[in-house]
Amino acid sequence: MSDTAPDIPRHVAIIMDGNGRWAADRGMPRRDGHRAGAESVREVVEGCKELGIDYLTLYAFSSENWNRPKKEIDALMNLLKRFLKEKTKEMHKQNVRLHAIGRLHLLPDDCRAALDNAIASTANNTGLSLILALSYGSREEIIDAASSIAKAAVAGTLDPDALDSETFAAHLATAPFPDPDLLIRTSGELRLSNFLLWQISYAEIVITPKFWPEFKKADLRAAIEEYSRRHRRFGAV
Ligand code: IPE
Ligand code: IPE
Ligand code: MG
Repeated sequence: MSDTAPDIPRHVAIIMDGNGRWAADRGMPRRDGHRAGAESVREVVEGCKELGIDYLTLYAFSSENWNRPKKEIDALMNLLKRFLKEKTKEMHKQNVRLHAIGRLHLLPDDCRAALDNAIASTANNTGLSLILALSYGSREEIIDAASSIAKAAVAGTLDPDALDSETFAAHLATAPFPDPDLLIRTSGELRLSNFLLWQISYAEIVITPKFWPEFKKADLRAAIEEYSRRHRRFGAV
């Protein structure tokens, strides 16, 4: 595949950033920004379905986000739990299948239970795959993969000389999913913040200055249009 103008991305990944600044601009507490951000999630899930996108990965909480004040973490976890409880039925109706990647055992028990329940009740759906990155850090994911590969090598079930990128990727939490074609980051920051470092090697990147709570279907459509104007070369000419 060389110099092909892509059409619709199969997999979109989003770093949903800027909730706190959106709230601060309005003299509101940060948690109100997170609440408003949840509405954008609903919009974008719907938008992806309408556009025929197969996979949507949302960076919802990073490994590093555990360093935030306890009050903010609690608010985020409560919001997550509420979101899962309220939206599972809707997701199911929309044929959305929920997945999660990250160190999920670090989530509070009630969040984990709501997550497991939402994943189980949407497991047979065949439409959009929605992948939530929660307590997720790409370096941790890569370390976990390296560790399981090393164990397999020691156990004699994997030949270290035969290791290739396909085998490596099969040990990542994202093994069931294709790599993202398009990475979107809101709020204008030009960094990856430990998100899918391996998987976005050849993703097209679109950065928008809008804060996440302002990101709506039209913004998703604009990002997809920009993507479709790009020329993906994958190192070829
Ligand atoms: C993104 O918004 C949500 C999470 C990281 C959980 P932020 O909370 O990072 O908002 P800003 O970047 O401080 O504005
Ligand atoms: C990245 O946003 C993580 C999520 C969107 C969940 P951050 O706000 O945590 O990233 P930095 O701190 O600006 O790099
Ligand atoms: Mg941020």
